[in-house]
Amino acid sequence: MSIEEAAQAVSVRSGPAEPLLEVEDLRVRFTGRGRRVHAVNGLSYRLCAGRTLAVIGESGSGKSVSSRALMGLLPPTATVTGSARFDGRELLGRSDRQMRRIRGADIAMVFQDPSRSLNPTMRIGVQITEAVRAHGKVDRKAAHERAMELLRLVRLPAPARRFHEYPHQLSGGMRQRVMIAIALAGEPKLLIADEATTALDVTTQAQIMRLLAELQERLGTAIVLISHDLGLAASYADDVVVMYAGRAVEYAPASTLFARVRMPYTEALLGAIPRLERPPHAELPVTPGQPPDLTRLPPGCPFAPRCSRATDECHVQIPPFAEHEPGHWWACWHPCGVSS
Ligand SMILES: Nc1ncnc2c1ncn2[C@@H]1O[C@H](COP(=O)(O)OP(=O)(O)O)[C@@H](O)[C@H]1O
Ligand SMILES: [Mg+2]
Repeated sequence: MSIEEAAQAVSVRSGPAEPLLEVEDLRVRFTGRGRRVHAVNGLSYRLCAGRTLAVIGESGSGKSVSSRALMGLLPPTATVTGSARFDGRELLGRSDRQMRRIRGADIAMVFQDPSRSLNPTMRIGVQITEAVRAHGKVDRKAAHERAMELLRLVRLPAPARRFHEYPHQLSGGMRQRVMIAIALAGEPKLLIADEATTALDVTTQAQIMRLLAELQERLGTAIVLISHDLGLAASYADDVVVMYAGRAVEYAPASTLFARVRMPYTEALLGAIPRLERPPHAELPVTPGQPPDLTRLPPGCPFAPRCSRATDECHVQIPPFAEHEPGHWWACWHPCGVSS
C-alpha cells in the first residue's frame, strides 16, 4: 500500500470531543532478577467515546504492556507511573478489587489468541452466559436470552447450534466472534483489541474489523486497536499513535498522519506494508537493525541507530514528543517533509 492509498483508506468520522480515556506520560518498568526493563517510556493519547485509536509499533514496542497497565493486569514486578483518566476517574493506583469491577463493567479486552482465552472444556453458550451473569443480577433464563442475543450481535453463524458446541469445533474467526461477544457482555464503554485479528486470514480479519466498526456505530464503544499493522490503522482508526521502544513517537488523526508522515520510523513502517497478501503472523522487518535493549536505553533518540536521517545530535539528545503542527505530535530532530 502506498502512502496515498493509505491516506485514501482513512475514514474520517466525526464524534464528540470530550475524551473518555486520557493517558498521560505513562511509564512501566519491570524489576527482577537484577534487571530493569523499561517497557513503556512515555505514552500519551486521548480517546473519545465512539472513536478508534490505533496503537502501532513493532513487536516489543510496549503496546500490550501499556494497555495492560491501564487494565491493572500487570504482575507485581511492574512499576507504573503517569496518569490514565477514564470517564473522569484515575485508573492507575487502584486496588485489584476496584480494577476487577472496572474491567468487568467499563473496559473489556480482546486478545490475539481466542483459543487461549476460551475454556476448551466448556461449551460456548455456558461461557457467554457466565460472562452475562458476572455483570449483573439476571436469572438463568434472561442470561441465556442475552447470551443468544450477543451471539447474534457478533454474527456468529447458526448461533443456536454453536451455543452447545466447544471452542475446538469453531473456526478461528468464530472463536474471535465469541470472544468479542464475551467482551461485550458487560456493555463496556471501551474495548481494547490487542492484535485481535492478527492470527486470522485476511478475509476473516476484514470481517472481524467490519464487525467491530459496526458494533462501535451501534453501541458507541470506544476502541483501542493494538496492531503492528499500519494498514489496519489506515482503514479503521480515527487517530493513530506510533510507538517505538515504549515511547510515543508520532500521534495524529489518521488522515493527517497518512497525508504527512513526519517520523522516519513511521515512514519505514509504511514502506513495510506489502502490496500482496501476506501470511498471518508475519512480522515484517521494518528497517535494518534491531530495536534497542530496553534494559539500557541509549541517551539519544532510540531509533537513531536505524534511522537514515540521523545526525550526531540524534545520538546524544532525545527529541521531545511535542505538538509541532496542529493535532500532529512527533518526536524527531529531522522530521520528513519539514525543511529546517
Ligand atoms: N512481565 C514482564 N516482565 C519483564 N518484561 C516484560 C514483561 N512483559 C513484557 N515485558 C517486556 O516489555 C516490552 C514490551 O512488551 P509488549 O508490550 O508485550 O510489546 P508489544 O505488545 O508491543 O509487542 C518487551 O521488551 C517485553 O519483553
Ligand atoms: Mg503485544
